[in-house]
Amino acid sequence: MPIPEEMRNRHTVRKYIERPLPESVVALLAERVRQHNDAHATNIRLVTEDSSCFGPLTRLVLAKGVRNYLVMAGDDTPEANEQLGWCGADLMLYAQELGLNSWWVSGTFSRRGAARAAGVSGKVVGVIAVGYGTTQGTPHRSKAASEVSSYEGEAPAWFVEGVKATLLAPTAMNKQAFHIKGRGDEVSLNYDKGACSDIDHGLVRYHFEIGAGRENFVWEHR
Ligand SMILES: Cc1cc2nc3c(=O)[nH]c(=O)nc-3n(C[C@H](O)[C@H](O)[C@H](O)COP(=O)(O)O)c2cc1C
Repeated sequence: MPIPEEMRNRHTVRKYIERPLPESVVALLAERVRQHNDAHATNIRLVTEDSSCFGPLTRLVLAKGVRNYLVMAGDDTPEANEQLGWCGADLMLYAQELGLNSWWVSGTFSRRGAARAAGVSGKVVGVIAVGYGTTQGTPHRSKAASEVSSYEGEAPAWFVEGVKATLLAPTAMNKQAFHIKGRGDEVSLNYDKGACSDIDHGLVRYHFEIGAGRENFVWEHR
């Protein structure tokens, strides 16, 4: 499958202009969030016109103009974290399709402020800022496909495209600490364990599925 434009164009954007999200965009994003929560038992919320997910210093220096964000919450399990990564990848690409920029934050945010603003219980694993960026961001430095993947025999086109898509995924500190193996139509994804590895795993899994086309392969052990 050709890599979607929004996947190529999505880059982290940390500063936003003061343009509110149109009501139609809020409604579309909220509906996508509702679909994820219904399908995956996640507890994601869209918060608009609020910046309490960041402390005053972060707002001043790093996260200028962030006033809309998704609170990524769910059960406190590795599986739930991975699922939130997968849903977050979809939501970031959907935001991009709606003309917005985005930024996943799992470190430099106020967990309590975000939970309170969203009125959620459960573990908040991060927030995704959304809005109109001051820039479109820049492509991240990337590993080569050969560093993160291997295929037994000659790799089919869907595998090559899937791996390309994973290299466009956001990962915590841009680590790209994963390895994808393919054999026949079976694919496995392994991730080095780390602070955000379950979330990253979900983000990368979503990107592979889109790049490769879900009809072309099956995940091993799933
Ligand atoms: C799970 C996760 C956690 C992240 N946490 C932070 C963070 O705490 N602070 C920050 O500035 N960026 C954070 N980022 C953004 C990454 O640094 C960024 O996605 C990565 O450098 C790749 O760049 P890209 O998003 O432009 O592709 C996080 C990204 C992910 C996926």
